[in-house]
Amino acid sequence: MSDNSRTILITGGAGFIGSHVVRLFVNAYPEYQIFNLDALTYAGNLENLKDIEGKPNYTFFHGDITDIEFINTFFREHRFEGIIHLAAESHVDRSITDPLAFARTNILGTMNLLNAFKELWQNNWEGKRFYHISTDEVYGTLGEDGLFTETTPYDPNSPYSASKASSDHFVRAYGETYGMPVVISNCSNNYGPNHFPEKLIPLFINNIIEDKPLPVYGDGNYTRDWLYVIDHARAIDLVFHDGGNGETYNIGGFNEWKNIDLVKLLCRLMDKKLGREEGVSEKLITYVKDRPGHDLRYAIDASKINKELGWKPSVTFEEGLAKTIDWYFDNQEWLKNVTSGAYQDYYKLQYQD
Ligand code: NAD
Ligand code: DAU
Repeated sequence: MSDNSRTILITGGAGFIGSHVVRLFVNAYPEYQIFNLDALTYAGNLENLKDIEGKPNYTFFHGDITDIEFINTFFREHRFEGIIHLAAESHVDRSITDPLAFARTNILGTMNLLNAFKELWQNNWEGKRFYHISTDEVYGTLGEDGLFTETTPYDPNSPYSASKASSDHFVRAYGETYGMPVVISNCSNNYGPNHFPEKLIPLFINNIIEDKPLPVYGDGNYTRDWLYVIDHARAIDLVFHDGGNGETYNIGGFNEWKNIDLVKLLCRLMDKKLGREEGVSEKLITYVKDRPGHDLRYAIDASKINKELGWKPSVTFEEGLAKTIDWYFDNQEWLKNVTSGAYQDYYKLQYQD
């Protein structure tokens, strides 16, 4: 992509992954103007970006990607040359209780951005880029063997993954139909600082600190492929700048863990951190009813991004988990703020018997 692409819109930049992507771009590319558009839902938090809020190449906008009038005006005013689109409803359990919210944000919101971008640049695609950040969950579930590659057929099982699959299809369709320079990446489970404590790792760190039960779904024999969030942000930087138009890149950690093994490892690390005797946190493990439509296993073949763009994870799982745990201990105020108020209502609803 052309070097004069200077005005870049990152959507969902106040969320978990988005905040790391915004920070990376603002710090690495002082010559770019980085705009962060975020609706600040329960998952968006400007505290995540306190360290960069005064930088001259960074601007935050509070706005909703489902608001078509606002999006069209916003694009006409700022004439974004590059879009890195992360804004989404992202939690599978919430998609089971409120699927429409996922269709609205993940499908219609994405289409609003695609349309606004098309209106701006339809006859002048040179140096432009629309980058959609997606998930490995669009491929459905693996059995005991095999890996997801870029050619694995889409087979989503949850309302969340169906909404992401649908938005991926629209992005590809805009590439084919209008010649829009699009690129998509599908990543595995991220973990790290600023992760909202509804997802497995931060939820369990918080519950261990609070001495609360650790709700393991089903038998705990579900497998996920974990990647440190800053390594995902590094991959996004590479794909945005060097990825091919119309291409898809799978991103993963080469790091598969059964949930129950991961939870036991986390318990041991937390016991150490808290100065507790080994085994104390493990006693909090409680098997609870399974997630409906629970995908058995995700695992990514990340050889394409490795070979073509030279990317590989820089942090081992042991290092990443240790950094993550340290971050939650050093940022208890953050944890307190995000778990007050509406979080308590969500928690009761999700984990009641
Ligand atoms: P997140 O839930 O932490 O953050 C989502 C952000 O989007 C929040 O800041 C929220 O306020 C914002 N947002 C939500 N609805 C919006 C709307 N209508 N308009 C504007 N902003 C809105 O999510 P995350 O985990 O950081 O995931 C970011 C993206 O990466 C998502 O598209 C997700 O599908 C994808 N992804 C996530 C993972 C993962 O493990 N977390 C893995 C692969 C892909
Ligand atoms: O694979 C990428 C996806 O990873 C992203 O697209 C999603 O946005 C992200 O939320 C994540 O989805 P998962 O459903 O895999 O993540 P979650 O942390 O919710 O769950 C991880 C595993 O842990 C899964 O097998 C369900 C299980 N689990 C989760 C919670 C919240 C439990 O056993 N207990 C829990 O309380």
